[in-house]
This record gives sequence, structure tokens and C-alpha cells, in this order.
Amino acid sequence: MEPYKAAIPIQEALRRGEGKVTLRGWIHRKRVLKEKIFILLRDSTGVIQLVLPRDKFKDLEDLNLESALVVTGALVKEPRAPGGVEMHVESVDWVYRGEPYPINEDAVAADSEYLLDVRHLWIRSRKMQAVLKIRHTVFGAIHEYFRKNGFYEVHPPMFITAAVEGGATLFKVQYFDKIVYLTQSSQFYLEALIYGLEKVYTIAPSFRAEPSRTRRHLTEFWHAEMEIAWAGMEDAVLVGEGVISHVVEKVLDERQEELRLLGRRIEPLEKAKPPFYRVSYDEAVDILQKKGFKIGWGDDIGADEERALSQDFDKPIVLYGFPEKVKAFYHRNNPRRPEVTLSFDVLLPEGYGEVIGGGERIYQAEELIEKIKRFGLNPQDYWWYIDLRRYGSVPHSGFGLGVDRLTMWIVGADHIRDVVPFPRDVRRTAP
Ligand code: 4AD
Repeated sequence: MEPYKAAIPIQEALRRGEGKVTLRGWIHRKRVLKEKIFILLRDSTGVIQLVLPRDKFKDLEDLNLESALVVTGALVKEPRAPGGVEMHVESVDWVYRGEPYPINEDAVAADSEYLLDVRHLWIRSRKMQAVLKIRHTVFGAIHEYFRKNGFYEVHPPMFITAAVEGGATLFKVQYFDKIVYLTQSSQFYLEALIYGLEKVYTIAPSFRAEPSRTRRHLTEFWHAEMEIAWAGMEDAVLVGEGVISHVVEKVLDERQEELRLLGRRIEPLEKAKPPFYRVSYDEAVDILQKKGFKIGWGDDIGADEERALSQDFDKPIVLYGFPEKVKAFYHRNNPRRPEVTLSFDVLLPEGYGEVIGGGERIYQAEELIEKIKRFGLNPQDYWWYIDLRRYGSVPHSGFGLGVDRLTMWIVGADHIRDVVPFPRDVRRTAP
């Protein structure tokens, strides 16, 4: 028999609880007792207990975990089985005998380096299944939010020629006979696209040659970015609150089972409703000084400071009004207080820290050229970005949201790697 025989999803079998059906999946657990073999069969929808009479299925006793099976049998209600239903197997229609499986989910769960080495297999685990389903919902909800709110989805290039977020973290790529870079952010392209479409967004990979290994940095991450014409910083903040709260609501609606499997406390998620707290950079420096941090006005707010700040608040914080020198050159300076920019970050609670960076952009050509020079950069590298300011430029604002970081907080992961199927960091490019 070929393994394509019509089968029903395990979730559907658990729902039906009776009747004869065919199931297919992989062996998640196996116990051989005196008279019976118990197998927990897993598919993409759930797990079910299979009960096989040992005398009839003698040759299946030594099946290794993750071997694949197609089985037919009767569903029976059994309160002691996971999901309350088990299958009494009548025939095993197809088997793929796996070699001894190198991962024991219970034993290795703590050894993240080993699990990264066998990532191509670990993504089958119940834990990664739950994370990846939540990630799927997160991406879907971001698209849904932007599309429902009048944004057009656009597709900027990944090969670029000038830094958006500083030269230090650019990846060089040999591009025929010249060197180009992998994009750090699609922002400049979104800024170009607002002149035709006014409200645009994209979800795309961004690349940063981050030399340090931290729990929230990848070298390749998924970036949801948006840009709106005729908009100030506060307009972008409202979109940021809107998209985060929509994503969280969607996950709470659709992924309770996965959150439970991951042991995630849901109270912090339930609280993530607008308005988020607003904290100015000045206030943040005060708070941090009172907490004993050696930070002065003008210093950047680093990861430790962010963690300390976000621990005091039970929902996300909008931190705004950063000094010019700690933010990228494109941020518009506040005309009433030029030493600070119309920029903001959104920090997630429970110590997770920054998930969004954005603000209002400089929209006048002269002001932009001056600031590029003040930052020690070469206006020629930004020729087309400056050009955008020559033809009907308007005030505009936008942001970038780190989708992996948002997912990390939603699932309550300790490390950003735990929410990405094949994470890339300074040491790891395989599997
Ligand atoms: O604050 P960042 O660097 O802002 C920008 O790139 C802007 N150009 C975006 C824009 O306005 N269109 O990055 C935005 C977000 C961060 O808040 C963070 O969530 C995420 O991108 N991010 C990373 N996520 C994982 N690994 C990294 N190395 C990241 N660098 C930034």
C-alpha cells in the first residue's frame, strides 16, 4: 500500500471519539507492555494513543521514535488517554522504519546547543510545533492588521548600497564585479513608496552583522515595517499599539492550546491593550538614575536599562524623544527642542525590551543633507533618498517591528532563537 491513503487529522479523530478511521503520523512515544504496544502518534494537529495487541504486531515492537505510520482502527473513548480518545489498531497499512532517533525530548530539553545542531529534527518537537503555529498566527495577524487599515503591501529589495542603521552591522555581498550589502531595514524604500501609495508596509528579512550573541539578536530577522505619508510621530505610535494589540488578541483567540503547552502565563498578554504607557526619554533617565544606573542625559538606553524599565510596567511602553546622537540620522529633530528627535521605541513588558523602533523622518532636503554631514556620512551615498525630498516631499512617519522579538515575548521564550525555525547568529549558519 502507498502511504497516501485517505486519513483524517488526529484532531478530528479526537473530536469524533468513535468509528473506524485511518490515521497517519509519526511515533512520538512508545511503550511495550506484556500484551500491548502503546504508541503516541503525532501529526501536525495533535497526538493520539494507539493500542496494538502485541501478539499481532510483534514486528512493530522495535520501531524507533519518529518512524512514520499509517494505521486503521476503531476510536474508543478512554479518559486516561491524552485527549480522552484512543485507537484500537486493526491494521498497520504502511511503515517507514526510522533509525534510532537522536533526540530524547525529555532528556535534552535543557541543552540548547545540541538542539541547535539537530535543528532540522528538533522542529518536529511538540514544543517547536506550538511555537511555529503561534508564529504563523503572528505573521497572519500583522498582514491582517495592515490590510484592514488601508496599507498596501510592498516588496523592497534585499540587495542595497547604503546603510540605513549604521555601517558597522552591514553584511557585504560580492555582486558580480562589485560589493553591495544585505538590507538592514526596508525603511528608505518604504519612504519612496509612500508617494504613490501613501500607506505601505512590508514583512521581510533584515540582516545585521551583530557580532555579539545576545538573547534578542539574530543576524537575520523578520522585520515588519510601515510608513505613512502626512503623518507625525504620534500617528506611527498609534499604528504600533494597534498592530501589537491585534496580534496578541489573535494569538489569544486562536492559540490557547499552544500557549498552554508552552506554559505561557497569559495575564501579561491580556493586558497589552492600547493605550500603552508613554514615557519620555527624560523621564526614563530619571527613573533609571533612581534605580542606581550610571546614565546621564544623552546616553543611550541599553539592553540592561530597557529590561529595568520594562519590569516596572505591566504593559508595553512607548519610549519617545531620544537625543539626536543616539538615533539614526534620518530622524526629524523636534522643531521646538532640536536636541531631541521625534523618535520612539516600543518596549515589551516582563523585561523583554525593544520591539519597535520608529518616528518621524526629516522631510526637507537641506535639513537632511546637513544632518547626513553632521553624522559624518557622505550625502552621495544617499543620493536617491535625498532626491525624494526634492519632489513634493511631505511629513511622514513609520517604524520597524521585530517580528521574532514580538513572537519571543508572546510565547514567553528565553531566547530569540527559540522562536525561529532555523536561526542565524554569529556562529550558526547551518542547519
Ligand atoms: O530599531 P531598528 O534598528 O529600526 C530600524 O531598522 C528602522 N529603520 C525601522 C523603520 O523605521 N522602518 O530596528 C527595528 C526593530 C527593533 O526594534 C527590533 O525589534 C528589531 O527590529 N531588530 C532585531 N531583531 C532581531 N535581531 C536583530 N539583530 C535586530 N535588530 C533590530
